[in-house]
Amino acid sequence: RAPEPATLVIFGVTGDLSRRKLLPAVFGLWQDGLLGSAFNIVGVGRQEMTDEEFKDYAIAALQESKETDTIQPGSLEKFRELLYYEFGEFGGDEVYNLVGKELDRAEAAHGGRKNALFYLSTPPSLFEPISNGLGRLGLCDQSEGWRRLVIEKPFGRDLASARELNAAIHESWDESQVYRIDHYLGKETVQNLMAIRFGNAIFEPLWNRGYVDHVQITASEDLGLEGRAGYYEEAGIVRDMLQNHLMQLFALTAMEAPAAFDADAIRDEKTKVLRAVKPIPRDRVDSVAVRGQYGAGSEDGQKVPGYRQEPGVKDESRTATYVAVKLEIDNWRWQGVPFFLRTGKRLPKKVTEIAVVFKRAPLGIFPGGLERNVLAFRIQPDEGVSLKFSSKSPGQEMELREVVMDFRYDAFGAQLESPYSRLLLDALIGDATLFPREDEVDHAWQIVSGILEAWNTAPDGDGDAPDFPNYAAGTWGPEEADELIGVDRRWRRL
Ligand code: BG6
Repeated sequence: RAPEPATLVIFGVTGDLSRRKLLPAVFGLWQDGLLGSAFNIVGVGRQEMTDEEFKDYAIAALQESKETDTIQPGSLEKFRELLYYEFGEFGGDEVYNLVGKELDRAEAAHGGRKNALFYLSTPPSLFEPISNGLGRLGLCDQSEGWRRLVIEKPFGRDLASARELNAAIHESWDESQVYRIDHYLGKETVQNLMAIRFGNAIFEPLWNRGYVDHVQITASEDLGLEGRAGYYEEAGIVRDMLQNHLMQLFALTAMEAPAAFDADAIRDEKTKVLRAVKPIPRDRVDSVAVRGQYGAGSEDGQKVPGYRQEPGVKDESRTATYVAVKLEIDNWRWQGVPFFLRTGKRLPKKVTEIAVVFKRAPLGIFPGGLERNVLAFRIQPDEGVSLKFSSKSPGQEMELREVVMDFRYDAFGAQLESPYSRLLLDALIGDATLFPREDEVDHAWQIVSGILEAWNTAPDGDGDAPDFPNYAAGTWGPEEADELIGVDRRWRRL
């Protein structure tokens, strides 16, 4: 897998994401020889800087980031030579003109091609002006080389704005040129979910309403806001995690087997299953979704402030930092099987897991309760897959005990690559398999919009609104989440 010669143009290159994740990811790919010999990077920002100043900036970012691979002697000096910088206002033409000139300059070294990947690592309000600007100056035209546009989430802030954004992008770009990044799809273990489901014969026969009782998808974080109040107060947990990362994990778990491992076959199946999710009626939201906001508490024995005390958060903020939701799918495979999704900040630990919980054996012939078998995909940390089942415990009695069969990624002895390197390389190669397509994003929005609308109609006043804060930092979220999962089921203790 090697990309053609290309220029990577990063808009918003001095931002947090680019400094912490993108530059280290590109550097790692380049140092491993995966980017070919003809490759360069043009950083674009609104800040005035010379090429030299930008080179210093980027090298310092690489030296500081925890994500940077081990730096080989001499590497940084050589990488420095690939870097250029342009600045200007994103609403005007000038900056795109300059970017165009950078592509002209690289042409000879790139074998006469002007391939370019435009990465929008900017606040979402700039997606449209930049996409338009590139379009106006003809930089999306593919006659002299391929041109691709990468956008970071959030793709809109609700269904209507997501549709507007897609329409605006499509004024200049064909959908096949657009790569929407959801970094969860770049995680090794998320890809492994497909490999395990569709590369083995033993799982699929059980993967349906006949054998599965319910599915739990959890993405818990112990961290709080990390200084991102400006963004988070606007987004909240539903837009930040549920609409994208969790819906993607959900789609991959529930979808049908694709006919091939290619971008459209997989994205067709994901879209189909998202389309089959039972709509959540506005007046019934509180019976299928629970929201929470953390108050003061403790993490690892350290006292931590509540959400409303985080710098930049309003005293009366109604922003949710926890959400749990029950989804049902109207198709043959999943009729009657609930999917429970939960995610939150300031929970006891960082864990992302997909657990398929099977039905109990039909008849208990041994003493003791019949437990449900669980196949759990541990996305992070301690990446692996485990199967929990009952076994006779040694002794005279025929007593059953739950045991676990465990596969751990350490078995491969290799370090897992960062999701950003995987996705960047895929975008440079032109493989869109791990990038959500427009219709997927639209359907994911349709599902969560009902929740957002119901919760937003009366920010302070809807009678059933919980009093925030309603869970203490360092606990597993509001008690109502236990009611949501039902009497005969319980959330996994992770
Ligand atoms: C990001 C969210 O998309 O994902 C963050 O904006 C969240 O709020 C992060 O912390 C979690 O990603 P990961 O890879 O650390 O699980």
